[in-house]
Amino acid sequence: MAFYSAMAVTSMALTMLSTISAQSKPVTFVFGDSLTDVGNNNFLPYSLAKSNYPWYGIDYFPKFPTGRFTNGRTIGDIISAKFGIKSPPPYLSLSLEDDDILHGVNYASGGAGILNETGIYFVEKLSFDDQITCFQKTAEAIRIKTGDVASKKLLNEAVYFIGMGSNDYINNFLQPFLVDAHAYTYDQFLDLLISTLDGQLRRLYSLGARKVVFHGLGPMGCIPSQRVHSSDGGCLELLNKWALQFNSRVRSLMTSLNYQLPGALFSFSDSYNIVLDLIENPQKYGFKISTTSCCNVDTTVGGLCLPNSKICDNRNEYVFWDAYHPTDAANQVIADRLFANPSMDKTPASPFPQH
Ligand SMILES: *[C@@H]1O[C@H](CO)[C@@H](O)[C@H](O)[C@H]1NC(C)=O
Repeated sequence: MAFYSAMAVTSMALTMLSTISAQSKPVTFVFGDSLTDVGNNNFLPYSLAKSNYPWYGIDYFPKFPTGRFTNGRTIGDIISAKFGIKSPPPYLSLSLEDDDILHGVNYASGGAGILNETGIYFVEKLSFDDQITCFQKTAEAIRIKTGDVASKKLLNEAVYFIGMGSNDYINNFLQPFLVDAHAYTYDQFLDLLISTLDGQLRRLYSLGARKVVFHGLGPMGCIPSQRVHSSDGGCLELLNKWALQFNSRVRSLMTSLNYQLPGALFSFSDSYNIVLDLIENPQKYGFKISTTSCCNVDTTVGGLCLPNSKICDNRNEYVFWDAYHPTDAANQVIADRLFANPSMDKTPASPFPQH
């Protein structure tokens, strides 16, 4: 298997994306945080990480707050459309008897992180471990519905998208009143994130996952909620450095798992430079403002657009919707560029050897 792994190392997730789109409509399972939540937290009665109120969804079709943390579509919604599939529904909206589970499920939950203790003050959310447990239940329900052979094939051929990690920094390590900020040095904290993620990816593999795309961190020091902590309103360079270090460690982790786990085709999707370019040169993409959010937010209490917020007139001119999350228009640019990155052309034609 090792030779395929070496290939998967040079091939990147982006080629994986275009290869997948050329295949028949893939079944996708999505794991993540508020950047990919499509409504799970709406089903958690005590969760404080919710967005099912105006003005969220104002540019969704139909215009409706869905639990997405943006004015319109998430990057995942846009990528699903490129695959020609429906964006997978939130796990908590489904029953395990539902045949819908055979076509893909979204487990993402606002406030979630790699570590259980991340986002603890949101009271309720599905941490990555919780999301994998929900997937385990789905996998078992699929086995009951379709039998051992067909379910193994479905689970092996499905694509697993994971986007996780920013909350482990922003809603954990950077919060001075939480334990992790004191218990670990930065290097120890990063080691803890990577070793925890290693166990989580092995667990997903043991449940049948083979084609895994991990979506790395963007320049989180440049999001409006972090800029307010700098003296001149600029990006917090330390956070950006941490994001790059995290990305580089996850990329190596995926490589090493490809060597260790037969048939694993784990890849790393890197949007750091795409997002940084969008923030540094918004006009290049038709935007005007990338340093503050479209709605006026109070970053001391959450930084979401509240129903009494004033929202900007032209939402297509803003990269950020609230203090954390990109607008629908920015998600479109990021998804388009992730999907069609020309630097990916030199990678092998098929990253999916048959085993
Ligand atoms: C998180 O909590 C679950 C139980 O809810 C436990 O099984 C798991 O080991 C914990 N994960 C970590 C990384 O501590």
